[in-house]
Amino acid sequence: MAELSYRTALVTGASSGLGRGLALWFARRGVKVYAAARRLENLEALANEARAAGSHVEPVELDVADEEATLARIRELDTASGGLDLVIANAGFGKETSGKRINWETVKQTIDVNVTGAAATLCAVLPRMVERKRGHVVGVASMAAFRGFPRNAPYSASKAFLHTFLESLRVDLRGTGVHVTCIYPGYVKSEMTAPNKGPMPFLLETEEAVELMGRAIIRGEAQYAFPWQTASVLHLVKLLPNALFDRALGKRR
Ligand SMILES: NC(=O)c1ccc[n+]([C@@H]2O[C@H](COP(=O)([O-])OP(=O)(O)OC[C@H]3O[C@@H](n4cnc5c(N)ncnc54)[C@H](OP(=O)(O)O)[C@@H]3O)[C@@H](O)[C@H]2O)c1
Repeated sequence: MAELSYRTALVTGASSGLGRGLALWFARRGVKVYAAARRLENLEALANEARAAGSHVEPVELDVADEEATLARIRELDTASGGLDLVIANAGFGKETSGKRINWETVKQTIDVNVTGAAATLCAVLPRMVERKRGHVVGVASMAAFRGFPRNAPYSASKAFLHTFLESLRVDLRGTGVHVTCIYPGYVKSEMTAPNKGPMPFLLETEEAVELMGRAIIRGEAQYAFPWQTASVLHLVKLLPNALFDRALGKRR
């Protein structure tokens, strides 16, 4: 299958971790990348790093939890760029909260960023892509989407939203020229996973994960879960009957 190519891209959550890496990965391949996040100083440092390497990253200060601002800003960028070819909804928030002491602020922030923010990011451009008969929307979900993991009710549920949302879109957009990809990373080193005290099996370096994600995107994969070791285990976990799942995961600290 031929690799997809893009002139312009938008990556949200590009001030650190996977988003930062993906912005650079595409910029190095000649794509003009709009890099969005709240921390403008990080985005400016990223733009300087790209410039030094002869590539083009444009910083975009944006809080995706503000859906009106997100819709308006992304539509503006789409117009100014002559049409965004690739939009990656990567911005994410994750914090553990046990059901026994559920924290509303954590639940709300997770929904605002991972659900509302991601959906607004994609909906800002989708009708225009369909009209142009060209484009690619990507959501960065997580393997946490596959079951309701303990102490992660808001995070697992928010990623399940993205998984299902993108699956429906993929079916609707068949034959329109617009590609849809959902990515399910396992554990990757980043600011998000740095506070984790528990075991993180098959933990990847950010650069390794970015390379795998970038390649899956240009291959136009519908769904891509990595690393394969974690993905294989999770495919089995998906099939576990509730009684076994509850017993196995309830014990895990
Ligand atoms: N690392 C992993 O193991 C792992 C596993 C599965 C899935 N993921 C997913 O991968 C994505 C990237 O995560 P990461 O690991 O690279 O973590 P990270 O380094 O913490 O990056 C999160 C990014 O999201 C941005 N963000 C958070 N809230 C935002 C908001 N309201 N508006 C705009 N941007 C916002 C942050 O930028 P600002 O703070 O500057 O706004 C930051 O750039 C997330 O969707 C995460 O759920 C990560």
